[in-house]
Amino acid sequence: MEKKKKEQKREKEKKEKNNEGKKMRAYDELKKTIKKAGILNTVHELLDWDQEVTMPKGASWLRAIQRGTISEVAHEIFTQKKVGELIKEAEKEELNEEEKALVREVKKKYERATKVPSSLIKEITETSARATEKWKEAREKNEYEIFKPELKKIIELQKEYAKLINPDKNPYEVLIEDYESDIPYEEIKKNLEKIKEESKELLKKIKEKEPPRTDFLTKEIEEEKQLIINKTVAATIGYDFEKGRLDLSVHPFTGAYGRITTRTSEGWLEAITGTIHEAGHGMYEHGLREEEIGTPLGEPSTLSVHESQSRIWENNIGRSKEFWEYFWPRISKEYGLEEISVEEIYRAVNIVKPSLIRVEADEVTYPLHIILRFEIEDDLINGRITVDELPTIWNNKMKELLGIIPPNNKLGVLQDIHWSMGSIGYFPTYALGTMIAAQLYEKIKKDIPTMKEEIRKGEFKRIKEWLKEKIHQQGRKYEVPELIRRATGKEISSEDYIKYLKEKYKEIYGIE
Ligand code: CO
Repeated sequence: MEKKKKEQKREKEKKEKNNEGKKMRAYDELKKTIKKAGILNTVHELLDWDQEVTMPKGASWLRAIQRGTISEVAHEIFTQKKVGELIKEAEKEELNEEEKALVREVKKKYERATKVPSSLIKEITETSARATEKWKEAREKNEYEIFKPELKKIIELQKEYAKLINPDKNPYEVLIEDYESDIPYEEIKKNLEKIKEESKELLKKIKEKEPPRTDFLTKEIEEEKQLIINKTVAATIGYDFEKGRLDLSVHPFTGAYGRITTRTSEGWLEAITGTIHEAGHGMYEHGLREEEIGTPLGEPSTLSVHESQSRIWENNIGRSKEFWEYFWPRISKEYGLEEISVEEIYRAVNIVKPSLIRVEADEVTYPLHIILRFEIEDDLINGRITVDELPTIWNNKMKELLGIIPPNNKLGVLQDIHWSMGSIGYFPTYALGTMIAAQLYEKIKKDIPTMKEEIRKGEFKRIKEWLKEKIHQQGRKYEVPELIRRATGKEISSEDYIKYLKEKYKEIYGIE
C-alpha cells in the first residue's frame, strides 16, 4: 500500500514536470483566447451584412437575438479576468516585435473594455436604439424637438463613459480614441485647423469661376447595366471577386470580410465613386494576413487608416484625369454618353459646390463639413455649448465655413445618424483618412514614377501591391503615426493633402 502510494506520487510529480516543460507561454494563451473573440466578431459582421443585403424582413426578430448573443459572448471572452492576468504575465515574457505589438493592442482594448461597467454599456446601447428611432422620426417630420431630449441623454452618457475611462483627459479626446486611438487630439485639431483655413481660401477662389457642365450626370441608366460597369471598375482596380462580392444596399458599406455594396439611387456617377470607395475598404480587408485573422496583427488599423484606403482609391486615383482617360471611353459607350469628352467628365467628377449634405460634398468642401462636426462635438462634450442651441450653432457654422444656411433642420443638424447612435468622435476619422490618403498617394507617385501612365492603361496592380505591403499586411503592428512614418518616411500631416487640393483644383478651375 505504502509503496503503491509512493509510486503514484512519483508518477504524479513526473507528469507535472513534463507539463511544466511544455507549458504554454502566457502570450500564446492570450493570443488563443482573444482570437476566439476576434473570430466571433467576424461572425457578427457576417450577420450585419446579411441583414443589410439579403435578409427577409420577417427574420429580423431572430437576427436581433443572434447579434446580441454573439456580441455578448465575444465580450465575455475578451473581458474575462484571465485575459487581464495573461496580459500582465505576457508582458514579463520575452517577446519579439510583433508579439509585443499584439500585447500592446490587446491591453489598450482590454483596459477600455473593463473600465466601464456593463450596466452603463447596456444603458448606452438601449438609449442609442431609442434615440435612433427618434432621430428617424425627427428627420422625417423635420422637428429637432423630437430628437433633442434623446440627444441630451446621449451626451450625458458619453461624458460619463469618458470620465470612467480617463477622468484626467479631455473627455472628447477619450471618445475619439474609440475610433482613432493613436493620433492625439492636439495633433488632430492642429491639422484640421490648417485644412479649414486652406479649404476656405480655395473655395472662395473657386466660387468666382464658372462651374463645369454636369447635366449628363443625371441621365437615367438601367440598374443592370450599372451593376455590370461597377463590377468591371472594381475588378479592374484590383478588387478580388473570389473573396468578395458587390451588391446593392440603401447606404453603401463594406462588411463581412470585404464584401461591398453601392447604390444607384443617387445617380450613375455616385454609384461608381461609391463602388470605388468601398472597393478600397474591401481590398484592405482582403490584404490582411490570413493566418492572423481575429488578432491585432491581422486586423485593420484605426478607422482613419481604413478610410485612407477607401479615399485614396475614390479620390486621389478615382477622380484623377488618367483614371477617366482609361475608363471613360468604355463607360460612355455603355451609358450612351459618347458626346461627352474625357475633359468634360473629368471636370464634372471634380465639381466643387458647397452643399448642405456632408455625404454629397466634394473633395474641397468635405473636410469643412467634418470640421463643423468636430468643433460642435468638442464644445458639446466639454460643456461650452448646449444641445438646445445646436440648430442655431449648426447654421451659423455652415454660413461661416461653406457660405450657405440650411433652410431646415432636416438638411442641417438632423442629417447624420452618428450622434443618435452614440458615435461621438467618429467624424474626425473621415477627414484624417482623406488626409492620410493624400500622403500615401504622394509617396506612391515617388515610388512608382510611371504610376500615371499605368493608370491610363488600366493597370493598378502595383498601386494595390504597394498598399498591401505598406498598410494591409502591417495590421496593427505599429500605431498609426509609426505606420505612416514607415510607409511615407514622414510624420502624419496635412501638408500633402493641402498641396494636392491646391494643385488639382487650381488647374481645373484655372486659378492663378
Ligand atoms: Co468609408
